[in-house]
Amino acid sequence: MARETRAIRDAGAVNRTEVARIGWAVAASDCAGGTDETGESVADSKRVVVLASGNGSNLQALLDAGIEVVLVVSDRPDAYALERGKQAGVDTAVVRPADHPDRRAFDRALRDLVAATRPDAVCLAGFMRVLGPEFVRAFPDRIVNTHPSLLPAFRGAHAVRDALAYGVRVSGCTVHLVDEEVDHGPVLFQAAVPVEDGDDEASLHERIKREEHRLLPVAVGLVASGRVRTDGRRAWLTAEVPS
Ligand code: GRF
Repeated sequence: MARETRAIRDAGAVNRTEVARIGWAVAASDCAGGTDETGESVADSKRVVVLASGNGSNLQALLDAGIEVVLVVSDRPDAYALERGKQAGVDTAVVRPADHPDRRAFDRALRDLVAATRPDAVCLAGFMRVLGPEFVRAFPDRIVNTHPSLLPAFRGAHAVRDALAYGVRVSGCTVHLVDEEVDHGPVLFQAAVPVEDGDDEASLHERIKREEHRLLPVAVGLVASGRVRTDGRRAWLTAEVPS
């Protein structure tokens, strides 16, 4: 807490933009291109583990942004995300719930595998399993998730479908820290995506993903660099890089 207070006060005295409340997409657009507002690379040799269950377009966005992904883990052996990892020369692993006696054992196996890589951040990029406390507590404020709705609306596995069924005119994505509740932790970035006439689940999700691809690498880079502090539900960006 002392470090956080100092970071905010010092940086605030120097430059208003050095410390910003995270939470608006405009903040992320300031950081676009893999650099933060100080011009430093936000991905500078920080180690990131990515968990993904499906196509892996968000993993690809991280790789393309220069994030150092040291391991891709999937719960599904057929996830195309694994192929993307291999093509990028990244280690991959599969941890299947079916290979473990219960959910706790699965969480532990996943935790131990990820922890062995000493990650600076863990990113859930379309990982379609709920992670239990055994996993979440091992990486406090270091797990980033992306969800295809404006949380707290439409939590869960069918967010885009549910938003369309509800008839919303605007949806979007939320990039947030992970806590022990599903789709719940402090918000890092959100971007709104208008629903267009004739949208179906695939077309709306595609446009939402474009925003996820823009925001997720910035958020992961900042978390991995130790630039994010939390105060309850609020996330703050600090200018100071902790030693
Ligand atoms: C993303 O929209 C993510 O928010 C959701 O699943 C999707 C994964 O897409 N949880 P991809 O596998 O990264 O292409």
